[in-house]
Amino acid sequence: MNPPSSLLFSPARLGPLTLANRIAMAPMTRSRATADGTPTPLMAEYYAQRASAGLIVTEGVSISAQGQGFLNVPGIFTDAHEAAWRPIVQRVHDAGSRVFMQLWHVGRIAHPDNMQAGEFPVAPSALAFDRTVVTPTGLQPPPVPRELSDEGVRAVIADYARAARRAVDAGCDGVEIHAANGYLPGQFLHQSSNLRTDGWGGSIGGRARFLVETARACCEAVGADRVGVRLSPFSVFNGASSTDDAALHDHLLRELAPLGLIYLHVVTAEVAGNQTVVREGGADRPDVVGFARERWPHGLIAAGGFDRDSAERELAAGRADVIAFGRDFIGNPDLPERLRHGHPLVPRQPADWYGAGAEGYTDYPLWTAERAGLANDTHKEAP
Ligand SMILES: Cc1cc2nc3c(=O)[nH]c(=O)nc-3n(C[C@H](O)[C@H](O)[C@H](O)COP(=O)(O)O)c2cc1C
Repeated sequence: MNPPSSLLFSPARLGPLTLANRIAMAPMTRSRATADGTPTPLMAEYYAQRASAGLIVTEGVSISAQGQGFLNVPGIFTDAHEAAWRPIVQRVHDAGSRVFMQLWHVGRIAHPDNMQAGEFPVAPSALAFDRTVVTPTGLQPPPVPRELSDEGVRAVIADYARAARRAVDAGCDGVEIHAANGYLPGQFLHQSSNLRTDGWGGSIGGRARFLVETARACCEAVGADRVGVRLSPFSVFNGASSTDDAALHDHLLRELAPLGLIYLHVVTAEVAGNQTVVREGGADRPDVVGFARERWPHGLIAAGGFDRDSAERELAAGRADVIAFGRDFIGNPDLPERLRHGHPLVPRQPADWYGAGAEGYTDYPLWTAERAGLANDTHKEAP
């Protein structure tokens, strides 16, 4: 039984949608698509297993061949991609959940060895990402990206809108523009990656324009109540930094709010990308959720470092409408049930996160099976 005060397990409204609970599965790249980005039946199994979440946000999905920078990431830019997503979305719907597809263009965080022949990374400015990315031959630094022309920027925005259309045609309830974690929209937002002096850079308004125009184009393509945006304000993950971060995000949220998007999804300062941030000496963490709530009049999803108690507290305080869980959903397909009853969670196993095949992907047990296994083990050990 739910404790009477539980908000996490009670139904929620998100725009026009009713969610079975306030738990979302956070978007997580799992690299199980084919080399050309076609989603696989195994992915349908994986997502259906996790459909007790009120909402599933898919892993990042490439909006174009140009936007793909990692191996075996699914796409949504060909008829074959769209057709292969349809049964995945159907399985999740049949199991009672909702699906938003996360639209992803990685910009400069890409290596040509991970891209289709003839493709090359693009970005707001010809500034290389100064770390390495995984490629078939090991870790390699990405090359200096090609700076997008004005026409090129507009073409990418059109790609987002087309991808949004395809996602909805594949049955998705909506799309989430991935503007967190330093990928292409983040590269436009931040001073560290945007040196442009035209209308797509310079001032805060110029740097925010790419994301605002992308969101507007997606709203025109599929309707504002099918478009969400994910942001990681104050994070410097993937080399995203600006000296005016607070003013930038303040402006951005004020520009996005009138579009009437279904939700904003923010990543807390507890995490950077896929890892918990360790802060020395109790250094202050920016209150990302509070910052967003003050400025955002629509649905708000918070992700990053939550457990059941902190999620309940955030909801009870009215600071967020839905809480997204990431890493714990990988090993616990029935995470809502486990949280609800206080069952132990399967520990995180990062070595499996980006692996291939079913192992570490669709072979995690439900609590009922795990308990039966434990019971059997006990039985075996009994004298
Ligand atoms: C394996 C893995 C892949 C991820 N891929 C994505 C992604 O494609 N898009 C994204 O926005 N965040 C991605 N993230 C970040 C998660 O969505 C989430 O913000 C992060 O794991 C923090 O939430 P948690 O503390 O509940 O795990 C990924 C995280 C992990 C562990």
